[in-house]
This record gives sequence, structure tokens and C-alpha cells, in this order.
Amino acid sequence: MPESTMQKIVGLAKRRGFIFQSSEIYGGLKACYDYGPLGVELKRNIKDAWWRDMVHRRDDVVGLDCSIIMHPDVWRASGHLAGFSDPLVDCRNCKERFRADKAPRAVPGSAAACREGGRSDGKKLAGVVGPQGYVCPVCGSGDLSPERQFNLMFRTSLGPVDPMQQILDAVDALAALDPEARREKLAGIIGETAVYLRPETAQGMFVNFLNVLNSSRVKPPFGVAQCGKSYRNEITTSNLTFRTCEFEQMEMEFFVEPGTDDRWFEYWSKARFEWYKSLGMRAERLRLRPHEQSELAHYAKACVDVEYFFPFENQDGEGEWGELEGIANRIDYDLRKHSEHSGKDLSYFETETKKRYTPFVIEPAAGADRAALAFLCDAYAEEMIDREKNDVRTVLRFHPRLAPVKVGVFPLVKKDGLPEKARELLSQLMAEGINSFYDESGAIGRRYRRMDEAGAPWCVTIDAGTKTEDSVTVRERDSMEQSRVPAGRLADYFRDRLRLSGA
Ligand code: GAP
Repeated sequence: MPESTMQKIVGLAKRRGFIFQSSEIYGGLKACYDYGPLGVELKRNIKDAWWRDMVHRRDDVVGLDCSIIMHPDVWRASGHLAGFSDPLVDCRNCKERFRADKAPRAVPGSAAACREGGRSDGKKLAGVVGPQGYVCPVCGSGDLSPERQFNLMFRTSLGPVDPMQQILDAVDALAALDPEARREKLAGIIGETAVYLRPETAQGMFVNFLNVLNSSRVKPPFGVAQCGKSYRNEITTSNLTFRTCEFEQMEMEFFVEPGTDDRWFEYWSKARFEWYKSLGMRAERLRLRPHEQSELAHYAKACVDVEYFFPFENQDGEGEWGELEGIANRIDYDLRKHSEHSGKDLSYFETETKKRYTPFVIEPAAGADRAALAFLCDAYAEEMIDREKNDVRTVLRFHPRLAPVKVGVFPLVKKDGLPEKARELLSQLMAEGINSFYDESGAIGRRYRRMDEAGAPWCVTIDAGTKTEDSVTVRERDSMEQSRVPAGRLADYFRDRLRLSGA
């Protein structure tokens, strides 16, 4: 069977050092990934572009970097302890554990054929779809456990506390209780000393609202941005880095006066959609999807998702819309909840008008890993160069701001002083902060192809003319056109090109 686009992208990601499976030499760990030398640059460039466009290029947004472990009351107030859960179901046939809301839908009472144990050589079983209206995503069985809520927060303890002894002491005393009551008691014991890895960066901005207000002389409308790791014990992980348990978010909470929130919601929805386009993402693979009323989170008055059409394989073939970013109108939910729980007044007093109000919040919440995956998929292209020779070039058409390597530097031959000149030019580019890569091995055409696969927008070849005319050949990745540029102006030339691209 020919490889699917996604399989090719996964293969390229590993071969060229974008994404590796975590702990691979030990067999890997489900849904955990590491970024290789090119991947780390790509993700860093995405985060830098986000920070520059959201914070440095605006005078109404400031930054923050909060700790990952926060006071457990933060999660009590935000509602995460009580409600940040997914409906979990076990398949009694193949033992798969999955999310009920993501399972393949089927008509209750209809046939649910599967194989025993989910094995391809297992005997055929004829089953029925239960009243819940879905089947196991792995084996198709309708023989499923009841749904139970599974909290997605990772729990740990802070300091030299080990709830194990308390649990051991309690076990005998609780033996007479029924399993549900016993569970509740034990959960209470663990909960006493528990802290959590943050499942979103957003709460750091809400609990620091007063600190930022009092230290930064900002006033509504203003935003607080943060980029950092979040953790969710996801039941269903899939498609490389699309949904993982450890990921990076790029979130901004924009505090506005109530009554102006609808306008700012429109503003940020449009601005965030345009941001992906400004970094070269193909418009036809992007859409803004407003949430149905039934989909809205309990805190949200409105929400739209920026979605990308990923080349994922599914039941219908290739391609699936997936969320890159959600823009939500969270009204005053979070500030009010933290006010109630902390006892601190988180309202804002406008001195000019003598008005006091609790700001509403518009939140553009993006994921750095998802964006990196989407930019990687979007950049991937195969081009027929010579049909007769079946010469196909694989190229990553990254926007220059995002490209992990900006310039490949090659001496045409490994003699006549060309390598020395090439290294001299490479040093000049690197000194300017233009990430470049030196390559002297193999035919020049192969070196171009290697840089195409790494997504470098430009290559520079140092040849005999460099010495006589002090010029070099610059080759464009996308058009493959070549031009001569004075060697002495090379750093300025690329700095200008990068500036023109918005860097
Ligand atoms: N503060 C709101 C919030 O966290 P979210 O839609 O749950 O909203 C925002 O997350 C973004 O974070 C998503 O659009 C996605 O890009 C990213 N994200 C969420 N869960 C993720 C996961 N398990 N793996 C990778 N990225 C994730």
C-alpha cells in the first residue's frame, strides 16, 4: 500500500530530526515526544513569532511566566478539580480505554460486529450497539462499561509528604464501607496533600491580575500573555503531537470593560485567524468554527476555534479538521471565582469615570505543539521535477520566520580556498543571528535537496566567481531560481529578506 501523506510526514520528521518518540531506546512512552535539532528551532520560532506579535508589537499586552504547580485552591476556584474531566469507557472485548465523546457513533440496537479480543485472528462476534450510541474505536464492540468521569489533571504531592502511610492506616478502618464510599474517603486523604500540574496556563494570569495591574500601570483594555507547559492526562492521544499529555500553550487573557466584550471577541477572532495566514499557512486549509451553544464551556459566553485541515487518516480517508486555537469570551467568570475563593477584590476602579467593574476576558488560547505540527504538515510538498527520471523533490515550504535553518552555505568544491571562504561567510551570517548550516559533502544538487527537506528558504554557493568578483550564488528554495549577490552584502541581504517577511 502506498504511504499516506501523514506517514510520509512522520517519517520525514524522524529522519530529518524534527520529532522523535520520547525514550525511544526503551520502547518509547505513549504520546510523549522529543523535538530534534530542526524541530526545536521550528517550535521556538513559532513561540518567538507569537510573543513578538502578541506582546512586543503591541503596547496593550504584557507578559508573565508563572509556576506550573500552583496553590490547589486555584483549581478549586477555577472548577478544574470538580469538572475538568472526560467521560471514560472500557471496552470489555479488547480492553481498550477510550473517551466516550470521541468514539465512533452508531445507531443504538444496530449490529456491532467485532472479533474476539480485538485480534485480527479472533473469532467473529455478533454484538449490538448499546443505548449510549457508540462502539469501541479499536475493535468495534458494543460491549462497553458504563461511562465514568476521569479528571485530567496530573496529581502529585509537594514537600516531604507521602500519603501512603495514611492510606495504609485507613484501609482497615474503611474495610466495612461499600467500594464507592471507600473510594471517596481515600480520595479525600490523597486530596489533603495533593498539588496539580497546571492543565492550562490561563489561571496564572487570573490569579496575578492584581499584581500586574499594580506593577505595570496597565488599564483595561489590556492583555497578559504567557507561553509555557501544561499537562493533561489525556485518555485518547493520537496523531503525533496533536494531542499529548505534556504540551506548550500560548495563551493571552485580554481584560476589557463589560459591554465592549463582543467587539473585542470579534477583533481577536479575526486577528488570530489572520496570524496563521501571515505565517504562510494555506487559507484553504484554515477555518474559523464558531462553537454551538451546547459545546460552550461552562465559563464561556462565546467561542470560536481556528481549525486546520490536517492530513490525518480516519474512517473517511485522509484529512480531518483539528483545533489549533480557541478564542473564548470568558466574561468575568474567572476573576469572580478567584475573588470569591481568595477573598480578594479583583475588580478594577476607573479613576476618570469613577466606575468600578470586574473586567470581562477575551482569551485567545493556542498550542505551540499543535501549531508546529500544522505548520509542518502545511509546509510539506512533493514536486515532480523530471517526469522521465521520476525525479520528485520533497520540500518543506516554511515561512522564512519559521524556517529552522534560514540559509544553507556550500562551497562548490572542497578546494581552492572555497571551504575557507564559505566558513567565513557562515560566521558572518551566524554572528547576525541568521541560523545557517554549512554543508560541503556530495554533489551540489543533493545538497540543495537536503536543505529543501529541512525547509531552508535560501542556499548560498561559493564558487570560483566568489574570489574573482566577490559574489556568491543565492538559490531560492521555492522557485529554485538563482541570482548573484555581492559576498560582502550577504548578511544585509538576508537581514532585509527576513525583515520583509515580517521577522
Ligand atoms: N485556557 C483555555 C484552554 O486551555 P483549550 O482549548 O483546552 O483551552 C488551548 O487549549 C489550546 O491548547 C488548544 O487549542 C490546543 O492547541 C492546545 N492543547 C490543548 N490540549 C492539548 C493536548 N492535549 N495536546 C496538545 N495541545 C493541546
